[in-house]
Order: sequence, then structure tokens, then C-alpha cells
Amino acid sequence: MTRTPIVVLISGTGSNLAALLTAAGAEDCPYRIVAVIADREASGLDHARAARIPTEMVRLADHEDRAAWDRALAEAVSRHAPELVVLAGFMKLIGPPLLEDYAGRLINTHPALLPSFPGAHGVRDALAHGVKITGASVIEVDPGIDTGRILAQVAVEVREDDTEDTLHERIKAVEQPLLVDVVRRLTAAPEAPRARPRLG
Ligand code: GAR
Repeated sequence: MTRTPIVVLISGTGSNLAALLTAAGAEDCPYRIVAVIADREASGLDHARAARIPTEMVRLADHEDRAAWDRALAEAVSRHAPELVVLAGFMKLIGPPLLEDYAGRLINTHPALLPSFPGAHGVRDALAHGVKITGASVIEVDPGIDTGRILAQVAVEVREDDTEDTLHERIKAVEQPLLVDVVRRLTAAPEAPRARPRLG
């Protein structure tokens, strides 16, 4: 079986990446992770190293300005020729070069029920607002902050005694299978093995 190549972008501990890697071990998995790219020395890179998957770091601080970093990120992704790019806890906005190169083939996972609580603190903001239900969303990436088309969502109940950490852990527990499911669905395009997965 020819597996659809994907690149995963991370900034953090990489529990979503780990779930994608574990799922990729299944015989019937329609995708393979060809590279993991981070914008910092993210501890999640260790998951990729342990699985002998190429890793790269594209740090904003190593570039002249944001536009140069945007170009470097797009080039790093393109070098691996993925059919789908998955943001799994990548904490930077995606700039025009990557958005244009991978239009319709970039997805992101977010720890809240969008369009509520977009941005870098989805869990904290939901807790501060006092919502009783929050969750996780997998969306298409567009130029806005978590404004892309919603592909899948799952709800999580907020408990009276929740802290940001306890709530985020329960969200991650349902977010990981949700993300794996969406990635499997998008890469299992029936038309042709090398066909570009179409979102939605
Ligand atoms: C995930 O919960 C993801 O939704 C969130 O960062 C976490 C990364 O966890 N992303 C965002 O908040 C993006 N706005 P991980 O590094 O353990 O996969």
C-alpha cells in the first residue's frame, strides 16, 4: 500500500504527534509521517527521533524577519513533499508562502470548541469564561487565528475543580484520537494514492 506522506509541525510536548506516530504503525494506516518540523527545541521532537523520522527546527530568531522565517518554513515543508501538513500544537501563525503552497492541505488542532476561544490559550480562556462544556476542534488553516473551516469537534465537560492543566489533559485525551481520525480520513483518498487529499 502506498501511504500518503504527511509533515507534522509542533512547538510543544508532542502528545498529538505521538498519537499520530502510534497510529502510523498500524498496517492499514493510510499515511506516513515523513518529517516533523518545530519552531523551537520542542520536547515533542524526541517522539520523532525515537521513531527515526527526520526532524528540523526553523526558529524565528535565526531569521532576519518574520517574512524570511515564513519562507524558510515553507521551504522546509516543501523539501519533504507532503500531501498534507498537520499542525499539532504549532504555536505560530502560518504565513502566506506555506498557506499558498499548501492551500486546502493544511490542518490544525485546537483545544476548544471553535469559534469559541481561538488563539494560544484556548483552555485557559474557556475556564476563565466559566463554560461548562469545551472540547477540541480540528480545522482547516486559513490566514486568520483559528478561523478556518471546522472539520471535526469533540466535547469535554468542565468540572468544578478543573485547573487549566487537568482540563487540558482531558481535552488532549479526546483530541488525539480525533486528530488521528481526521488525518486518516484525509489521507485515505480513494481516487489515487498520490492524489492530493481534499479537505471536507
Ligand atoms: C494541543 O492541545 C493543541 O490543541 C494545542 O496545543 C496542544 C499541544 O499539545 N494547540 C493550540 O493551542 C493551538 N492554538 P501536544 O504538544 O501535547 O500535542
